[in-house]
Amino acid sequence: MKISVFGTGYVGLATGVCFADMGYSVMSLDVEPEKVEKLNQGIPTIFEPGLEDILKRNLAAQRISFTTDYKMAVESSDVLFIAVGTPSGDDGSANLDYVVSAANSIGQFMNSKKVILTKSTVPVGTNYLIRDTIRAALKKKGSSLEFDMVSNPEFLREGSAIHDCLHPDRIVIGFENESAAKVVRRLYDPFIKNGAKMIEMDIPSAEVTKYAANAFLATKISIMNEFSRLCDKVGANIENVRVGLSADHRIGPHFIYAGVGYGGSCFPKDVKALIYTGQKYDEDLKILNAVEQTNFIQRERFVNEVFKRVGQSGKGKKIAVWGVAFKPGTDDIRESPSLYAIEKFLASGFSVSAYDPVAAENAKIHLGARSDLSFVAHQDEALSGADALCIFTEWKSFLQPDFAKLKKSMKYSLIFDGRNIYDLEVMRESGFEYHSIGRPLVGVQK
Ligand SMILES: NC(=O)c1ccc[n+]([C@@H]2O[C@H](COP(=O)([O-])OP(=O)(O)OC[C@H]3O[C@@H](n4cnc5c(N)ncnc54)[C@H](O)[C@@H]3O)[C@@H](O)[C@H]2O)c1
Repeated sequence: MKISVFGTGYVGLATGVCFADMGYSVMSLDVEPEKVEKLNQGIPTIFEPGLEDILKRNLAAQRISFTTDYKMAVESSDVLFIAVGTPSGDDGSANLDYVVSAANSIGQFMNSKKVILTKSTVPVGTNYLIRDTIRAALKKKGSSLEFDMVSNPEFLREGSAIHDCLHPDRIVIGFENESAAKVVRRLYDPFIKNGAKMIEMDIPSAEVTKYAANAFLATKISIMNEFSRLCDKVGANIENVRVGLSADHRIGPHFIYAGVGYGGSCFPKDVKALIYTGQKYDEDLKILNAVEQTNFIQRERFVNEVFKRVGQSGKGKKIAVWGVAFKPGTDDIRESPSLYAIEKFLASGFSVSAYDPVAAENAKIHLGARSDLSFVAHQDEALSGADALCIFTEWKSFLQPDFAKLKKSMKYSLIFDGRNIYDLEVMRESGFEYHSIGRPLVGVQK
C-alpha cells in the first residue's frame, strides 16, 4: 500500500514520517517549495521532539520523499491523506479553501481508485464537500472514477506529535462503506498491533468527535480559569482546589490547570468553528460561547493586572517576557497569549525584551522588527533593568531560576506568572512581589 500525504505542517509531516517508519512508502506534498526542499534535505521545518531523527532515518531508507508535484503524488499512491490547514475565517468558521484546493487537485490527477482520508479538522459535512469537489473535477475531465472518503481526525498534541502519531490512544475513522474500512484497518494495522484502539463510526460522527474533544478540553481549562478568578476574590488558592478536584477520578488530573488562557492552532479556532456550526444549524452552543469569552477575559485580565501595578504608560519602562510559544515543547505561536500581551505592552509604550528557547524566530516574523522589542539568546538577558518579568510558557528552564541573580538583574523584584510555576513560599522567601493566577499575592512591595 502506498501513501501520499497532502500538507507538511504539524499533522501532515508527523503523519508522513510515522507511516514511513512503519515501513510504508510515503510521498508527502506541500505547496510551499522551500518547505519541500528543506524536508528532502532532512531539515525539519517545525520544532517537534524526535522529528529530525525519524525524518532522517526514513529519508535514508528511501521510504519518504517530499514533492510539490500533485500529479506524481496522486498517481503514485492508493491511499491519500488530506492534512492541510483549516484556519479561522473572519466570521469564526473554518476556512476550507486549502481543503477544497487539495480536493480539486486530487480530482484533477486521479487515475485509479483511491481511498481518501481527511486528517484536517473539518466541520461536519466537509467530507461530503471534498467528495463532491473531487467528483466535479473528475467530471470536468470526463472521468467517473470511483473513490472512497474516510474521515480520520487527528488527535496528536504539538510538542509530542511524533510520539502521539506512533502511539495514538485512539484512531477514529468515519466511513460509508465496508471496503474503505477494510483498507483503513489494514493501513493502521502496525499501529493497532502496537496497542492503538480503532473506533469506527459514520462520517458526521467522526467529524463532530474531533471538535467535541477539543471543545471539551478547552472547557476544562476555561472552567478552572473561571474558578481561579473566584479564588482571587474570596482568598482561596486555585492550586489547592485543583489538587482537591484531581483526586476525584470522575474529574481526573488533566487539563485542569488555571493560567493565562489557552492558545495554539487548535483550541481557539476549533471552539470558534463549533460555535459557528451551531449557529448554522440554529443551535446556540451556550457553554462554548462562555468558554471562549472566559479565555479572552483571562489574558485581558493578566495584562490589566500588569498595568495596574506598573502603570498604564510604559514610557521608559521595560517588561521582560519569558515564553512566546503557546505551550512548552513547540515553536507554534498561533494564538499565543504571550503575543496578545506583548502587543498590548508595546502599544502602551513599554519596551519588551523576550526570550523563548525555540519559538523566538516565529514571534519575530509575526511581530516584525521594531526598536522597542528585542528577542534575546538567553533567558537571563531579558531581565536586565526590567521593571517586571511576565511568564507565559512553562518551559522547563524557567522552573528553577537563580532568584538572587534575577533580583540583582531586574530594576524591581516583580513577577507576573501566567502559568503558576513557582511555589508561593519560595517566592516569599526570595523577596519577590509575585502575582500568579488564582493564588494569593505574595510579598507586596511598597
Ligand atoms: N497542529 C496540531 O496540533 C493539530 C492537531 C490535530 C489536528 N490538527 C488539524 O490538522 C490540520 C493541519 O494542521 P497543521 O497544524 O498541521 O497545519 P499547518 O498550518 O502547520 O500546515 C498546513 C500545511 O498545508 C500546506 N498546504 C496548504 N494548502 C495546501 C494544498 N492545497 N495542498 C497541499 N498542501 C497545502 C501548507 O503549506 C502547510 O505546510 C488542521 O485542520 C488542524 O486543525 C492540527
